[in-house]
Amino acid sequence: MAFPVQRPRRLRRTPILRQMVRENSVSPSDLIAPLFVCEGQGVQTPISSLPGQFRLSVDRAVEMARELWEVGVLSVILFGIPDYKDEIGSGAYNENGPVPRAIEAIKHALPDMIVLADTCACEYTSHGHCGLLKNSEVDNDATLKLLNQAALCYARAGADVIAPSDMMDGRVASIRAALDGEGFSHVPIMSYAAKFAGAFYGPFREAADSTPAFGDRRSYQMDIANRREALREMALDVEEGADFLLIKPGLFCLDLVRDARERFECPICVYNVSSEYAMIKAAGQMGWIDEARLIDETLLSFKRAGADLIITYHALEWAQKAKSS
Ligand code: PBG
Repeated sequence: MAFPVQRPRRLRRTPILRQMVRENSVSPSDLIAPLFVCEGQGVQTPISSLPGQFRLSVDRAVEMARELWEVGVLSVILFGIPDYKDEIGSGAYNENGPVPRAIEAIKHALPDMIVLADTCACEYTSHGHCGLLKNSEVDNDATLKLLNQAALCYARAGADVIAPSDMMDGRVASIRAALDGEGFSHVPIMSYAAKFAGAFYGPFREAADSTPAFGDRRSYQMDIANRREALREMALDVEEGADFLLIKPGLFCLDLVRDARERFECPICVYNVSSEYAMIKAAGQMGWIDEARLIDETLLSFKRAGADLIITYHALEWAQKAKSS
């Protein structure tokens, strides 16, 4: 039976009626805030391509974590901005590096906050690639050892979740075995399972100073044209023991978020990446869009697609507004 009996507009007539039939909502606890942690003390350097985001020294990262916590954002994901980089990315597992020190400091100040450690080599290698090089190619299996060391270093510092973002084959199984071998069987892995190569991460790379010195990431990150391959990557990571699946970049991959939601039972996380944030901020600064509403609509779209969790640079601003309204 269709029109005139069926009239979907009946349920849209008043604000309360619309609220009653609203299928999805965003809560501050769905959001994970990325923090860029650098060396030094009292450092809070703005990142020009990510207005409102900063490179923070450990002490400032703790303050930022506290601000997030106070508005209900209960988790952060940390990225390191080390002073020192080398060919082999040894800074990724330096226990005195900014990330392990920030993990310790945040867990000390806010023991219940969930601290995720992004685990990758690109912020620590002089060549900017996500792994170790052999004849100018990224050597998969050699990189697994580095990732294991990095994951252990963050777990020892108290990280609640290890989040490998490198796209090496077999890294989930490898990190799982390394963690289990040192008594960290309780530490979950959030795998960046389907992560695509492209221009999506430009502002992040400016922030993290991690643009590859030569070539690009297409031999390890996926081709944006591929959907079946993304499902294969996710299935492999689940088999290897991933506890969460992460899909990235978010707005460009809503189809995959839905696929993942329907195919897997584990929590699904989506990464609202740096270029998505920068586009909204830039258009907002130009006065071309209603920024606050677009942020709401972006986050809701992730939830509608099926995401449980959203890594987003909008976390603090959105949660502050949500709290005051
Ligand atoms: C590290 C990593 C990157 C991002 C998250 N982890 C950069 C990259 O792969 O080049 C990008 C996040 C963003 O753009 O917001 N491998």
